[in-house]
Amino acid sequence: MRNQSILRKSVTIGLSVAAMTVGGVAMAAPTKGTVSVLNWWTSGSEAKSMNVLQQMMADKGYKMVNDAVSGGGGSNARTVLKSRIQSNNLPGAAQIKGPEIQQWCTTGLTMNIDKVAKQQHWSKILPGPVAKGMQCDGHYVAVPFNLHRINWLWINKSVMEKAGAKMPTDWDSLVAALEKLKKAGVTPIAGGGDTWQVATEFDAIAIATGGADFYRKAFVDLDQDALSSDTMAKTFKRLRTIQQYEDPNGQGLSWNHDTGLVVQGKAGMQIMGDWAKGEITNADATPGKQIACIAFPGEHSGFVYNADSFEMFKSSHSDKNAQYAFARTALSPKFQRKFNMAKGSIPVREDVSLKGFDSCAQQSKKDFTAAEKNNALVPSFSQDMAENGAVKGAIFDVIAKFYNDKSMTPEAAAKAMASQAKQAKMMSQM
Ligand code: BGC
Repeated sequence: MRNQSILRKSVTIGLSVAAMTVGGVAMAAPTKGTVSVLNWWTSGSEAKSMNVLQQMMADKGYKMVNDAVSGGGGSNARTVLKSRIQSNNLPGAAQIKGPEIQQWCTTGLTMNIDKVAKQQHWSKILPGPVAKGMQCDGHYVAVPFNLHRINWLWINKSVMEKAGAKMPTDWDSLVAALEKLKKAGVTPIAGGGDTWQVATEFDAIAIATGGADFYRKAFVDLDQDALSSDTMAKTFKRLRTIQQYEDPNGQGLSWNHDTGLVVQGKAGMQIMGDWAKGEITNADATPGKQIACIAFPGEHSGFVYNADSFEMFKSSHSDKNAQYAFARTALSPKFQRKFNMAKGSIPVREDVSLKGFDSCAQQSKKDFTAAEKNNALVPSFSQDMAENGAVKGAIFDVIAKFYNDKSMTPEAAAKAMASQAKQAKMMSQM
């Protein structure tokens, strides 16, 4: 698969905002401190969302250095983080999610932000699993920004109408709609760009096919029976079906390029987390109107969640007060609304109103609350929320092998997933 090039950007604003006038001459006021923030938000909507934070920080007199490294899913950003550690150039905050937050704590390099968490009552305003995930040994070391849902299907309504296809409600009607789109000469599904994108598709198919209990057993508990089960084989089989409706030359295309194809009517659908919604809005289309959002259909419903978060590091290149301000601003109600409207996610603060958010965000919130009650809320394996990097890598390898090797059977893929995940877990515990 073609590798996405690493694009590093360093964007700073703030001087103009922090400017003051002395004797009629505009002077740059000293900033109250600087924080460098490593992340992988480089698509149009992602950069816009990050600008909200940079601007809000600047308004308060802090300089936020936006160290953005391109590459959906963040594998390039992770590589850069490791090399920055080696060269003693740690960022003040880095985008890190799921169990990796706890792994980083073992380095002794993370920073305690209990002070801010206490002031803002994080343990009360955050959903339980998210609050827990931000802590190591009972201390907050990371700040969450949002809640993304993974198991979505984005559909261009007018393309569907022109093709005479009906909105899917289950797996069979989805395949029927894809067939109609194909006959009409449009790419039925935009996708298949790289392993991370294919794994994101697999994620959505897995919950719809097996449900939350199966998903949890397989991807959180790494239960061998669930991983090698008929249900997992069925998930692989469905991925093969989806693949047949994707552009065979789509490799190397980014997720946001694919979202663009759906918005422009060059493709009918995309299976992607709701960061795709950020791109839809950014392209002046209305999610829920021109582009429909439905939970990926199958026999089961559920909510596969992904909370973007930033882990704080003891960094000689960032000021502690700016790091605290970063965490505090990220969880302010104002930022939660502005950022999440642009990003496509919903606020992670449970007490923030969704008034003015689009209908897909409203649906997401409703489904999240229902899933929380029904034990149907699961952390996304494809977005690093369920397992450490080594295990996720092993699972990704099997998905990539299956996708690229059409002679591999779904049953063989399920068996390989069980054995490789087990091995990776053992190795990572050694
Ligand atoms: C992140 C999203 C991001 C997406 C694509 C995901 O892993 O959680 O915030 O928009 O990758 O870059």
